[in-house]
Amino acid sequence: MTSDYKPKEQIGVGDLKLDTKAKKYLNEVIESNRLSYGPFSQKLEVNFAREHQCKYGVFCNSGTSALHIALAALKEKYGWHDGAEVIVPAVTFIATSNIVLHNNMKPVFVDVSSDSYTIDPELIEKSITGRTRAIIPVHLFGLPCDMDPILEIAKKHNLRIIEDSCETMFARYKGKTVGSFGDIGCFSTYVAHLLVTGVGGFAITNNDELAVMLKGLMNHGRDSIYLHIDDDKGTSVESLFEIVSRRFNFVSLGYSFRATELEAAIGLAQLEQKSEIVSKRQRNAKYLIRALSDLDEYLQLPCISDEREHVFMMFPIVLKKEPKTDLVKYLEKNNVETRDMMPLLTQPVYKRLFGEIIDNYPVAKWIGTHGFYIGCHQSLTDEQLDYVIKKIRRHFKK
Ligand SMILES: Cc1ncc(COP(=O)(O)O)c(C=O)c1O
Repeated sequence: MTSDYKPKEQIGVGDLKLDTKAKKYLNEVIESNRLSYGPFSQKLEVNFAREHQCKYGVFCNSGTSALHIALAALKEKYGWHDGAEVIVPAVTFIATSNIVLHNNMKPVFVDVSSDSYTIDPELIEKSITGRTRAIIPVHLFGLPCDMDPILEIAKKHNLRIIEDSCETMFARYKGKTVGSFGDIGCFSTYVAHLLVTGVGGFAITNNDELAVMLKGLMNHGRDSIYLHIDDDKGTSVESLFEIVSRRFNFVSLGYSFRATELEAAIGLAQLEQKSEIVSKRQRNAKYLIRALSDLDEYLQLPCISDEREHVFMMFPIVLKKEPKTDLVKYLEKNNVETRDMMPLLTQPVYKRLFGEIIDNYPVAKWIGTHGFYIGCHQSLTDEQLDYVIKKIRRHFKK
């Protein structure tokens, strides 16, 4: 360990390096003079979905858009009414529950497990009413939810599942990949995620009908016969006539959630490196865990198990004996970026909408006051990790 190492810049929670391949693909897009949906988006959708054991992928402009159309598609398919209830965890990024509200439905919050920070399956059934229609389990920080009991509950109560996997790509739960358990799985490629395209997101599914609905919904609700400018190329005269007559048909109340070939080009280049990205993150997380595990009395570190593969979008830490404030201040003062662990119910807008309800969610409350996360991304060096470790140890005088 180089003990006198001092970072010139903040040690951040995420990183993006556009490598030669990304630049090559970007150049190909620029040379083609085509930014709207084309070969890069198409390939990215197919490959990303396949990586997650799904038949269909829809690339759109954010994880939030993906979640929004996922719920809109299910609402339309199953004829749910406004005010129907959707179960969401009490710890997640605000977009998970915002999209429920934007779809005119009601989020019902369920507390999370104190060791994994994902929705506590044992608490779900108590929150189910005659109006419940769906569950949105969130694979948080890179860790899949405990899916078996969630799937069992969903089956028993005839509920649909949207996996909010915006923070977790490629991870396997008992050998099956996140995003392939529910009706639709949603992912984000926003800054600091596992794949980064600037803005971007995916909705993936194995259901033929939902795939068509998702594509239409993100394209203004357009008739699926003509979603992109290539859809009338190379067709017979008869089908061309059919396409032309339906080209401007809008069959549902849709949105303009499209991404461009530029994001797709970056995404494709990164997807080709997903194994290195994931293994470096897992290796960095293990490095941090090994070096901090003797501080067990003070720190709750992320749990690793064979059944629930952790891909470490970030490295969560919850303090056992004191609120996080002093340690966070100390790390930030020393150029180590920290972030809150997704407090949801204490957000000003939610306090206004739902009142002071955080006391009903003791684990979420504890995580809010005692938890934060730091980065463990693929660009961090051992020197930087050693520095972070040293600073945390010094805070506890160890
Ligand atoms: C759990 C979760 N859901 C949804 C989103 C929304 O994704 P986006 O920022 O791409 O809209 C995020 C983004 O960080 C997230 O962490």
